[in-house]
Amino acid sequence: MVTTAAELIPEGANLGRLRAIAAGCTACDLHKTGTQTVWGEGTSTAEVMLVGEQPGDREDIEGRPFVGPAGHLLDSALESAGIDRSKVYVTNVVKHFKWEPKGKRRIHKKPNAAEVTACKPWLEAEIEWVDPDVVVALGATAAQALLGKDFRVTKQRGEFIQWPAPGGRMVTATVHPSSILRAPEGSRDAELGEFIRDLSLVAKHLAG
Ligand code: URA
Ligand code: SF4
Repeated sequence: MVTTAAELIPEGANLGRLRAIAAGCTACDLHKTGTQTVWGEGTSTAEVMLVGEQPGDREDIEGRPFVGPAGHLLDSALESAGIDRSKVYVTNVVKHFKWEPKGKRRIHKKPNAAEVTACKPWLEAEIEWVDPDVVVALGATAAQALLGKDFRVTKQRGEFIQWPAPGGRMVTATVHPSSILRAPEGSRDAELGEFIRDLSLVAKHLAG
């Protein structure tokens, strides 16, 4: 039994090969509940990599990241921030959809620490191959996977932190677009504004 995806990653495998191997990953139990592995998407020379938590219901069906409601919000926020979606790579920390039934619907369930640990080597391999200038964690799961469990998105969003390895890469975190969709109507516009502001800092960093 493999316990993390690291054991499945051959030395020197390129992004296409990694994706093909990840399609058959059984390193954690989520392959039993998710329909398919949802690999990252975007140009392999992207300057920005956006990292979500895990695919949602729509992503699980289509096999592509951020194509559901959260993805639509993300697309429009990127546009407002002046970041060209064609220049970004989007992916998730965990690559299978974790859910629980609620009536006829499948409701998102947060991945646990073991699942994050099992899946993270895929993300690390994507980061290594795409080699973006900035990695943007969307929400606490991604932020804590990348920056440690003490990282607090509420306090530290929008800060740029040097990647803990050579290469000059920076990491920053903001909220998850789903949190804006879930926000009470009265505060949704303000939260969207703050999300766009955080993404604008990324645009500014790239331009600078
Ligand atoms: N939420 C995520 O974190 N990732 C997706 O791909 C879709 C929704
Ligand atoms: Fe593998 Fe990640 Fe899917 Fe678990 S969630 S089976 S580690 S691809």
